[in-house]
Amino acid sequence: MSTVEIVPIREEHAGGFHRTLDIVARERRHLSFLEAPPIDATRAFIRDNIENGFPQLVALADDEVVGWCDVRPKARPIHAHVGVLGMGLLPAFRGQGLGLRLIERALAASKRFGFHRVELTVRAENANAVALYRKVGFELEGRLRDDVCVDGVYGDLLVMGILL
Ligand SMILES: CC(C)(COP(=O)(O)OP(=O)(O)OC[C@H]1O[C@@H](n2cnc3c(N)ncnc32)[C@H](O)[C@@H]1OP(=O)(O)O)[C@@H](O)C(=O)NCCC(=O)NCCS
Repeated sequence: MSTVEIVPIREEHAGGFHRTLDIVARERRHLSFLEAPPIDATRAFIRDNIENGFPQLVALADDEVVGWCDVRPKARPIHAHVGVLGMGLLPAFRGQGLGLRLIERALAASKRFGFHRVELTVRAENANAVALYRKVGFELEGRLRDDVCVDGVYGDLLVMGILL
């Protein structure tokens, strides 16, 4: 595999990020999306992250986006200290330590941003992701039973969190 670099997202990455998000979403097994949002919404999402300093990193292989990790604050003022983390890699780039590099950078950026807590939800059967999150210090905080339904099959979501 060629060297993969991790950089803060820039507006020029919108197309690649959208494509990567769409591929991972269409696997239907990992994300809360089943396809990427429209490209305009994706551009607005990236611009919002850049303008507000919310951490969003992308992994680039040969200048193409192959993964991302973002951490955005919850909406209400009483939760402004809480960041919600999302991440994903294209299938060919999994299981090689890239997820670990991405999340470590994202947590460092979250701390610099001033988040006190970072949380996420993950499908209970997503063993790779759960193992990665535990490895960097997330703790299991709860289980939302039958919280997802994909293709008529219910599944549980785990709630995990870390205090920075
Ligand atoms: C979840 C994901 C980001 C993890 O990234 P990754 O690069 O594959 O993981 P890494 O190679 O950095 O591995 C980090 C740790 O995760 C665990 N892990 C990784 N691959 C694993 C596998 N195949 N089986 C079990 N554990 C695994 C291990 O604990 C590993 O630590 P180790 O290096 O000591 O073995 C990536 O697999 C992915 O994008 N999956 C699809 C999208 C997704 O699930 N996103 C998260 C939604 S909540």
